[in-house]
Amino acid sequence: MKVIIVQNKKEGGACAAKLILNRIKKKKNTTFGLATGKTMIPLYKKLSGLYKRGEINFSRVRCFNLDEYIGFNKNDKKSNYRFIKKYFFRKVNIREENIFFLDGKASDPILECKKYEERIKKYGGIDLQILGIGINGHIGFNEPGSSFSSRTRKVMLRNETRHANAWLFGSFKRVPRYALTTGIETILSARKIVLLAFGKDKAAAVAATFKRATKQVPASVLQRHPNVTFIIDRAASANLRQKSH
Ligand code: F6R
Repeated sequence: MKVIIVQNKKEGGACAAKLILNRIKKKKNTTFGLATGKTMIPLYKKLSGLYKRGEINFSRVRCFNLDEYIGFNKNDKKSNYRFIKKYFFRKVNIREENIFFLDGKASDPILECKKYEERIKKYGGIDLQILGIGINGHIGFNEPGSSFSSRTRKVMLRNETRHANAWLFGSFKRVPRYALTTGIETILSARKIVLLAFGKDKAAAVAATFKRATKQVPASVLQRHPNVTFIIDRAASANLRQKSH
């Protein structure tokens, strides 16, 4: 796994944006997998800036969102869809019909997840999956204990994840307990994976990712993928550096 250590999240966002830009230059209709969360904000800001300056064109790009809260969909302000829309989709020329997302209000969640997997396949799979990491090592909403062969499904969120996301909902209690998430195997099916992690809160999870692959640290499964790049800032890499000294 390749590790790029940057000074701060702004530099990290710029570094990831450059990888995305290069991808689109090589393949205009690149299919991206996108994540939500505070880690993604510098990346989405940088991409919007590049678009404003005419340096990047998203007109043929396709995006699949990683996950969605149960009870929320594109019409809800607190949905993951609206998060990415706020920071990214509405600022660039990505076509609405090229944005794919899980409907957390689907009457049949099992069917919704099955259809999502089929849609990803129909579009030729994910070329570049962008990931964040939870303080407990989750990727997408695949919490510790998730099977490495899991596919898109309904999951229960751990309380630590709900606490970490309380800022989005105003309080811990308002954070939904359940979500739909693309699975670990779905994530591993992407041709390339880029994981971003910023801040000291992520240092323990990042270090655990590089130890033995275990279901207890979902991100550690990335060791089994042939093309993964980590973009982490100094604070998030603190425990890695300690180990190598
Ligand atoms: C959300 C997602 C999660 C986040 C992770 C980190 O779509 O995929 O795995 O990436 O919880 O969240 P932040 O960036 O808010 O620390």
